[in-house]
Amino acid sequence: MSIKEITEQVSERYAKAASTGKQMCCPTSYDMSHLKTFIPEEVLKISYGCGTPAGLETVETGETVLDIGSGGGIDCFEASRLIGPSGRVIGIDMTDTMLEIARRNAPLVAARLGYPRPNTEFRKGMADAMPVEDASIDLIISNCVINLAPDKRKVFREMYRVLKPGGRFTISDIVSDQVVPQYMVHDSAKWGDCLSGSLQVQDYIGGMVDAGFRAVHQIKSTAWQSIDGVHFLSVTLTGYKLPAVGDQGATLYATLCGPFSTVTDELGQQYRRGVPQSIDAERAQLLRTAPFQSLFLIGPTPITLDSADPRRRAILPEQTPCIWQGAYAILTGPVITAEDDDHHQYYRGVPVEICSKTVHVLTQDAYRPHFTIYHRNSTLVEGEAVSCAPGGSCC
Ligand SMILES: C[S@@+](CC[C@H](N)C(=O)[O-])C[C@H]1O[C@@H](n2cnc3c(N)ncnc32)[C@H](O)[C@@H]1O
Repeated sequence: MSIKEITEQVSERYAKAASTGKQMCCPTSYDMSHLKTFIPEEVLKISYGCGTPAGLETVETGETVLDIGSGGGIDCFEASRLIGPSGRVIGIDMTDTMLEIARRNAPLVAARLGYPRPNTEFRKGMADAMPVEDASIDLIISNCVINLAPDKRKVFREMYRVLKPGGRFTISDIVSDQVVPQYMVHDSAKWGDCLSGSLQVQDYIGGMVDAGFRAVHQIKSTAWQSIDGVHFLSVTLTGYKLPAVGDQGATLYATLCGPFSTVTDELGQQYRRGVPQSIDAERAQLLRTAPFQSLFLIGPTPITLDSADPRRRAILPEQTPCIWQGAYAILTGPVITAEDDDHHQYYRGVPVEICSKTVHVLTQDAYRPHFTIYHRNSTLVEGEAVSCAPGGSCC
């Protein structure tokens, strides 16, 4: 299918769904009883996202929010409530029927929120050529849309263009654990179902980093569907457009606390647990963003963490036989490589098969935010106990 054909078929599909109120796409976990207090039923019944607008948890009064592929406007209207009447929400969508529903309901939502006028605006446009000014947005949200865009890298570049320096995105989307085969890519029904257009996790996150975003990491993820061995996951990701850095000033040092034994940041610097590393201003800015705060100590003097230091964290595997049960782990940031204490090497976005012992390690609180764990087996695997030996059949 050509890009034009994909776009036309996706738009037709969503126009039809919007006019019939048909249920589509993925399960979400909205608090509908809360949304019903100010969002009309006409909007709620055509909610086609794959996540709740987790990005809105960080939104502040008066901010400007952009929703890419706003559909009937559900997330825009929740953003409108959260930012208050001094803030602004712009929804972009390519489908007229969606825009008509969102525009018709904007004054009703504003009235229910007690605002003097709507602070939401719905513009017709494509995700890869957005009718939005450069550097004008504080927060980008998007809910199950970018997988539908034929050229995701162009969308990521557009997102970077419209964000203010210091701005951020939090988007939910469908990704896959491996390359989607051509016979699925050319299946228009599966495009409309948010499957065929999915990128592999590593390409999705890599495309965002190539566009300029930093500290890209997962907020949450759930397994969605598996078709012919390709596993589709619903993920919510965040990242930042960091402002330009000024002069270095005094030398700074970063010490990795753990739980990883080594990691590499998005600028290519490697860190070993407990060993201080001098860092330049750009790295200091990166490591001071929220997702790194639990991983590093940063300061003007080098801090070495020995094994007795309570700030040093290591999670050792149990010394018991393990079992292979079909589990895989995907490192989802904010680092690009990492190693655990069982010497597994993880590369961001690349699935690694893990045994029961490693599942136990990676589901501990310190590791959990950095991984998506899913199963490739379609039926339950009991598995036989395997003894671990260096170079042997297990860890
Ligand atoms: C799965 S629905 C999600 C709608 C909304 N975000 C929600 O959570 O209900 C996808 C929406 O994105 C729009 N869309 C798909 N591809 C697009 C693109 N390339 N540019 C702009 N809008 C797009 C569709 O028209 C549709 O309204």
